[in-house]
Amino acid sequence: MTKEDNQSMMEKIVSLCKRRGFVYPSSEIYGGMSAIYDYGHYGTLLKNNIRDAWWKEMVQKRMDVVGLDSAIFMHPKTWVASGHVGGFNDPQVDCKKCKSRYRADHLLEGFKVVIDDKTPIEEINKNLEKLREEKKLKCPNCGSTDLTEAKVFSLMVKSNIGSPTDELSEENVVYLRPETCGGIYLEYKNTLDSLHPKLPFGIAQVGKAFRNEIVARQFVFRTREFEQMEMQYFLKSEMMKEKYEMWKEIRFQWYLEYGISENNLQWHKHEKLAHYASEAFDIEFNFKTLGGFREVEGLHTRGDWDLSQHSKFSGADLSYFDQEKNERLIPHIMETSVGLGRLFLMFLDNAYTEEEVNGELRSVLKIDKRLAPIKIAILPLSKKEELTVPAKEIWEKLKENFMVEYDETQSIGKRYRRQDEIGTPYCVTVDFETLNDQAVTVRDRDTMTQERIAISELSKYFEEKLR
Ligand code: GAP
Repeated sequence: MTKEDNQSMMEKIVSLCKRRGFVYPSSEIYGGMSAIYDYGHYGTLLKNNIRDAWWKEMVQKRMDVVGLDSAIFMHPKTWVASGHVGGFNDPQVDCKKCKSRYRADHLLEGFKVVIDDKTPIEEINKNLEKLREEKKLKCPNCGSTDLTEAKVFSLMVKSNIGSPTDELSEENVVYLRPETCGGIYLEYKNTLDSLHPKLPFGIAQVGKAFRNEIVARQFVFRTREFEQMEMQYFLKSEMMKEKYEMWKEIRFQWYLEYGISENNLQWHKHEKLAHYASEAFDIEFNFKTLGGFREVEGLHTRGDWDLSQHSKFSGADLSYFDQEKNERLIPHIMETSVGLGRLFLMFLDNAYTEEEVNGELRSVLKIDKRLAPIKIAILPLSKKEELTVPAKEIWEKLKENFMVEYDETQSIGKRYRRQDEIGTPYCVTVDFETLNDQAVTVRDRDTMTQERIAISELSKYFEEKLR
């Protein structure tokens, strides 16, 4: 695909999302807010289905993982202990001519200069200066060489909520959490005391996180408010190697199970590491909308950094008593971390298909049936009561077990096209023949084949098809 094809694919998906009620730009009537989005009816359903599929894999199907829903606000010391205050920064560079804003690490990456979040800003600027002298440093947007020096830009989003103990001051700011795992570390002790899990065990949670991203113009791929689905796995250091491999395999398989082809997935080993990580691998998906492989999920080994730091800063004993060895230890942590919005874009990108049918263009979301926002659409062929009454009765019967939509507006062709575009796996047409044979036509989204099914058999039919 060319760069133009990628852009056009992104435009199509963004347009479909707005037109069909998946995603809207936030606060649009006031002019919008950059990199913040709202999810509409179908978007919310799809997002919840992706979340539930993750939760099923990570909690429901496991004996060694429990759930949590911790608060967004945490004690100010949380983010000092974790190293985020002062350490969770990106180096920002501006083009003085066109005012475009860049991350210096992204600019340097183009010249194979790798920096991490421990690289001092002076060294970053030395690298930029060298490129400037060689006349290589240019604004990727307008080509100007007039770029600012890199300056430290904190990704932490401040709130003005009062601190529990002191006056609000620079060192005592309550932040909106930049990652959800912070809450897991703070509730590790309560989880141990109340549920008594044995190592290795995991705590999983889904929730909002906030980052003041410098560059965020890739739809829901990178936003300033987003949802993360994280699982922190607590273990003894000697278990790390085996369990890291185990979770890498589990997470990779999850993508395959939900219809992502192996050709469109790859592992990326991080050369530059976040301040807490000792080893980091990303699962990358080959986005048509973004022109190549991009990170969707990170699996990081974090050593005993988090619990040691929180123990040091809070004074709480966060050790675990190992009954076999009769000794106390600070567990090490391995995490899996994925953005829900990023998965949302990945599944749309993967599912969006254009086909020619009888000389017309059909756009269809060929998404895994378990993730589809609406499972079944009930479509009476005419608005006459003799058809709408039995059609509504079918809706009543199926709604207990499935997300079903009833639609009697417009021509049947237009209604099929609408359901195809929102990825509904099955359309049920109630026609005049139904009045004689007590059966309906079921149309399959992907093959467009139609089957005649008795109304009395419908529930059983869909239970099998949508399992
Ligand atoms: N606790 C580890 C952690 O937060 P990360 O690599 O910074 O690690 C993990 O983020 C995942 O969260 C990413 O792989 C991505 O899916 C998602 N994510 C991070 N920043 C995001 C943003 N600004 N918008 C959407 N998703 C984001």
